[in-house]
Amino acid sequence: MAPKGICSFLKSMSKWISSNLWMESKISKELGVKKKILFCTHHMSHAASAFYPSPFENSAILTIDGVGEWTTITWGEGKGNHIELKEELKFPNSLGLLYSAFTYYTGFKINSGEYKLMGLAPYGEPKYVDIIKKELIHINEDGTVILNQKCFNYITGTKMINQKFCKLFGGSARKPESKITKREMDLAASIQEICNECVVKMARYVKQKTNCNNLVLAGGVALNVVSMGVLKRECEFENIWIQPAGGDAGGALGSALWVWHEYLKQERKVQETDSMESSYLGTEIKDDSEEDTKLLEELGATWENFEENNLIKKIANILASGKIVAIARGRMEWGPRALGIDLF
Ligand SMILES: [Fe+2]
Repeated sequence: MAPKGICSFLKSMSKWISSNLWMESKISKELGVKKKILFCTHHMSHAASAFYPSPFENSAILTIDGVGEWTTITWGEGKGNHIELKEELKFPNSLGLLYSAFTYYTGFKINSGEYKLMGLAPYGEPKYVDIIKKELIHINEDGTVILNQKCFNYITGTKMINQKFCKLFGGSARKPESKITKREMDLAASIQEICNECVVKMARYVKQKTNCNNLVLAGGVALNVVSMGVLKRECEFENIWIQPAGGDAGGALGSALWVWHEYLKQERKVQETDSMESSYLGTEIKDDSEEDTKLLEELGATWENFEENNLIKKIANILASGKIVAIARGRMEWGPRALGIDLF
């Protein structure tokens, strides 16, 4: 991207020279063993995290992400213990990066605040959809997007968007932690509608290509539960399974499974429910356990034990007084959308 991209080139190169190029020896050193290090590509790790633990013998696979290596979206098929990725969309065109650009513009943190933007969407009206489609992106029939790079800055610069982007929506980005206005709500609703449309079109395209009854998904955009809900209602797949750790945390699981099945050729046993046995993989909280009581004491916490009925009344009262209640029961769930599943 010379000459414009010189700053971001120098910034990236210093990281490559000081760290990334030495990743293999760094991993060996950390593990304390001199063994062969295998590298799984970013989207293959997402695909593997979606397909291998799924309850399907065969399935279509869709990974929708920001960017990993140069890839932003892939689709493929999983059969038995083998995955084949068939097509991909490459950087700089990316649905995930588009969503992140709006995350930044509405004053939230990229790569972590996307869920806040998603949560804000139902409060607004999708009144910017037409502007986004006219000025910012082109949506292909297969659901992939072409981004108008005149309005973005992430290829050559260090920010997601530029002045042209801001002009389209009537001003500069919301300052983080400042008041959220109707504009941010409407922007959230608009980009959510775009995201829904793209995801449904992608799934339709993959259905057409594979004619599979099953679909599995992973990648950052698969964490958008609103779009996933629309997808479940509107696409023609009979069964859908989504990796609960659809972001890059799930890549670790995917890489391990990829090595196990693709490299070591180990057989895959499909279970009726998913083979992760839900996403309850964390430590467990037990009522009245000695361990938990000891931990509460160590933390200097104030606590009280309630019977179930009284607990419900207590929670209702706290909520009615406008406060927030967090409930933790059983084992911790893996994945950033692990909220409220086990509420009552
Ligand atoms: Fe990713």
